[in-house]
Amino acid sequence: MTTTDSAQTGVAAANIGVVGLAVMGANLARNLASREGNTVAVFNRSPERTRTLVSEHPEAGFVPSETIADFAASLQRPRTAIIMVQAGAGTDAVIDQLTEVFEPGDIIVDGGNALFTDTIRREAAVRAKGLHFVGAGISGGEEGALNGPSIMPGGPAESYETLGPILESIAARAPEDGSPCVTHIGTDGAGHFVKMVHNGIEYADMQLIGEAYDLLRRVGGLSPEQIADVFTEWNKGELESYLIEITAEVLRQVDAETGKPFVDIILDRAGMKGTGTWTVQNALSLGIPVSGIGEAVFARGVSGRVEQREAVRPTITARPEPAKVDESFVEDVRRALYSSKVIAYAQGFDLILGGAEEYNWEINPGAVAKIWRAGCIIRARFLNRIAEAYDRNPRLQSLIADPYFAGEVAEGDAAWRRVVAIAAQSGVPAPAFGATLSYYDSLASDRLPAALIQGQRDFFGAHTYGRVDRPGVFHTNWSGDRNEVEQ
Ligand code: 6PG
Repeated sequence: MTTTDSAQTGVAAANIGVVGLAVMGANLARNLASREGNTVAVFNRSPERTRTLVSEHPEAGFVPSETIADFAASLQRPRTAIIMVQAGAGTDAVIDQLTEVFEPGDIIVDGGNALFTDTIRREAAVRAKGLHFVGAGISGGEEGALNGPSIMPGGPAESYETLGPILESIAARAPEDGSPCVTHIGTDGAGHFVKMVHNGIEYADMQLIGEAYDLLRRVGGLSPEQIADVFTEWNKGELESYLIEITAEVLRQVDAETGKPFVDIILDRAGMKGTGTWTVQNALSLGIPVSGIGEAVFARGVSGRVEQREAVRPTITARPEPAKVDESFVEDVRRALYSSKVIAYAQGFDLILGGAEEYNWEINPGAVAKIWRAGCIIRARFLNRIAEAYDRNPRLQSLIADPYFAGEVAEGDAAWRRVVAIAAQSGVPAPAFGATLSYYDSLASDRLPAALIQGQRDFFGAHTYGRVDRPGVFHTNWSGDRNEVEQ
């Protein structure tokens, strides 16, 4: 490949560029190129990859470059480039290169799964040079990148004027109203923060589905194929979602080598790249309870501690028999799954709003729900319900304070409790079902044992407490006369 014609002649041909042409970058570039009005400049550190992409996809009309300077020259102003490299040091290296050749007003977009605090840092550094930096969460995996992802851009609102129409051209479209699944989330790291929470919710969704499967199999006695049928059925109702759909497909798969259900030949150790952990770490820092997501991350951790599991298992000799259930158990599990899912999402949205408050982002939770309706991994009919809840009341304290969700959870209340009780009786772990039910019961309780904890804290550390009957800060003289003093 030679230097591009456009770079040689100084005619900037492309309205958008992509740096980093591994599968996600290549697919995003192809998606961009396939939309009316886009001409896409492409650059990759090793030019071989660029050559392959260009030769395999002549229909895309890519404008390739072998140097970053040529890449910059091939872009119309304001230059807009989307970085699609592995999050971390590689991103910083590309930003450094781009800031060398870009000019004030140009836009650098990071489409990787960056940690939002890195995005905040990068945005400030790039802004100091007069350029715009947009951290954009992109969900939907390789297929989404090619056919329409859900996109969560942060960065300066001004940059969205140029970037928005381009991103709207490639985003998935919501089935309900055809609107593109992209919106300006908020300034600097807001987009990557929301993408992080999306992934945390994804962990919770997957764990809850996993627990439902485990209960149907170990207590309900259903085969993977039968459970696949159950999930296919569930996918016609309120639980309709991409994750339920693909779960049925995975469960129906038979291992070609052994003839066994595919799910039985996979090692039961869930991997993770870390975004779920980030979600929980940040929730803890912000003091936002996300127990459903937390249990999902912990459950992956437990699954991976193979030596510990192997050491403990033989020491536990008495294991309970699975509880006796009838055919109504399947419907109970469906109900429990829906209620737990509502809680996991309620917690995720709490975290989004908690982050918004902490970092001064004006995030519209209803708009976030809307752009998750298609393209992303957690896409689901359910997201439309969440969008409606925030339309009804933009200042909703919790999703379960919304009349629709409150009603749904109340209706499934008995089933949810039966399932959690049966899991415990049967010795089948259901940490996310259990944690989300406990969270719900905490919110529903008139009084919490936090009162006793305050008493304990005051006893050993004079940490003081408030009273229910009058304002003020109080301490009881525990080691002396046990009289109360107002502080
Ligand atoms: C998406 C996915 C994507 C990726 C996760 C998986 O929205 O497209 O969330 O970001 O699949 O990195 O995360 P784990 O490897 O941690 O499960």
